[in-house]
Amino acid sequence: TKYEKIEAFVKGFKLSTLTYKRVMTLLNSEMKSGLTKQTNHVADIKMFPTFVRSLPDGTEKGEFLALDLGGTNFRVLLVKLHGSDVEIESKTYLIPQRIMLGTGKQLFDHIADCIGKFVKDHNIQGQKLPLGFTFSFPCKQEDLAAARLSKWTKGFRCEGVVGENICHLLHEALKRRTNCDVEIIAVVNDAVGTLMSAAHSDRNCEIGLILGTGCNACYMEDLDNVGLWEAADDDHPQQVIINTEWGAFGDNGCLDFIRTEYDRELDTYSINPGKQIMEKMISGMYMGEIVRLVLERLTMEGLLLHGADRECLLFERGKFYTKYVSEIESDHDEFFANTKQVLEELGIENFTTEDCKIVKYVCTLVSARAAFLAAAGLATLINKIGRKEMTIAVDGSLYRFHPRFHNLMCLKIQELIRPGQKFKLALSHDGSGKGAALVAAVAMRLRNIKG
Ligand code: BG6
Ligand code: GLC
Repeated sequence: TKYEKIEAFVKGFKLSTLTYKRVMTLLNSEMKSGLTKQTNHVADIKMFPTFVRSLPDGTEKGEFLALDLGGTNFRVLLVKLHGSDVEIESKTYLIPQRIMLGTGKQLFDHIADCIGKFVKDHNIQGQKLPLGFTFSFPCKQEDLAAARLSKWTKGFRCEGVVGENICHLLHEALKRRTNCDVEIIAVVNDAVGTLMSAAHSDRNCEIGLILGTGCNACYMEDLDNVGLWEAADDDHPQQVIINTEWGAFGDNGCLDFIRTEYDRELDTYSINPGKQIMEKMISGMYMGEIVRLVLERLTMEGLLLHGADRECLLFERGKFYTKYVSEIESDHDEFFANTKQVLEELGIENFTTEDCKIVKYVCTLVSARAAFLAAAGLATLINKIGRKEMTIAVDGSLYRFHPRFHNLMCLKIQELIRPGQKFKLALSHDGSGKGAALVAAVAMRLRNIKG
């Protein structure tokens, strides 16, 4: 029948619990080789130690500038910390695509210009401002305020930045373009910022997760397990946050056994073929495109949307946005109001209720696989940390806007962790800019203690 034919084109998205357990075993061993000095250079999952050694305790004070670069929005923030009370003023600026694909100098000049405007608009020119920088790309951290970009991910590819210390590039741009007196105190990944931001009010938080444009996680690890750790021992607690960069899981081919033809096609036409394989199966930058590729295939096979004109947007790469998946899956009755609107936006005029049903079905399969893979990743971390109770701080547009992501993840994690362990997924409300400011505040406090 027609439905059996459709099944044949989508069955690759339905994976058994046993398969997710196999993914966990692989991820666990990849993470281990990332943490080990002898194997890190060949590992895909880089497990970067972050130099963030303790979580905030709620007593942090002071005024900080923060930058948040690498998600959907670029933001400049002014964060005022008074203990548990936090005031945030922020402004979003646009990063045009020509800058995302231009030179590093153009990118950092643009950022500096935005900071310059922000500082002027908020009348804080005269002060020496400490800054926390959330930079949501893989970086090898050399110190709290020195991080070298190891590669670009997501939609960015600015020339001349890979291998460079991004704090230095920002600092030079600030000198060139503004007369702001800014001191960069800390640079953190968005997963780390999210963890710090939530840990400020929840002491059980040990994992940070981003489900947005990209996908990544970080967690608190014992230094004994971090073969990469080389800094001198001191009076800090013997722990450090590890930025896993697990989006790169599968780059060596180890996930090929679960990738579908659609995953391969998406990868071929991406700006980074062969890279960020796990991220491409989960995150918001790619989910809509995977759905589009399936719908395109079913339509070509004559199983769907007979009324679709071959010139319409359904047949154009990148035109099926991930927000459509969330909208379509929010339809709960036979009227399919959102689904119809999406199909109309794609320029499809004649469609049936059955078409809507199939379109929604495809969305649910693709998003469930994404949620389950993210769950398998989290379950691996939860088992690894092994604590009885844990909060996971989550941020990102996919998690925020998809109607079922949270529930799907909770169900699957429960299935995959050891019995008796408890966990909670908590949306981090204030973004990771607040987390970057907290990291800066802790660093300043320690600096003052040491004199
Ligand atoms: C934001 C954080 O809330 O979520 C950013 O402040 C992060 O640092 C972002 O990058 C991730 O979500 P998205 O959907 O904007 O990529
Ligand atoms: C990409 C980046 C990573 C970031 C994630 C979420 O995976 O490499 O650094 O945390 O996207 O924004």
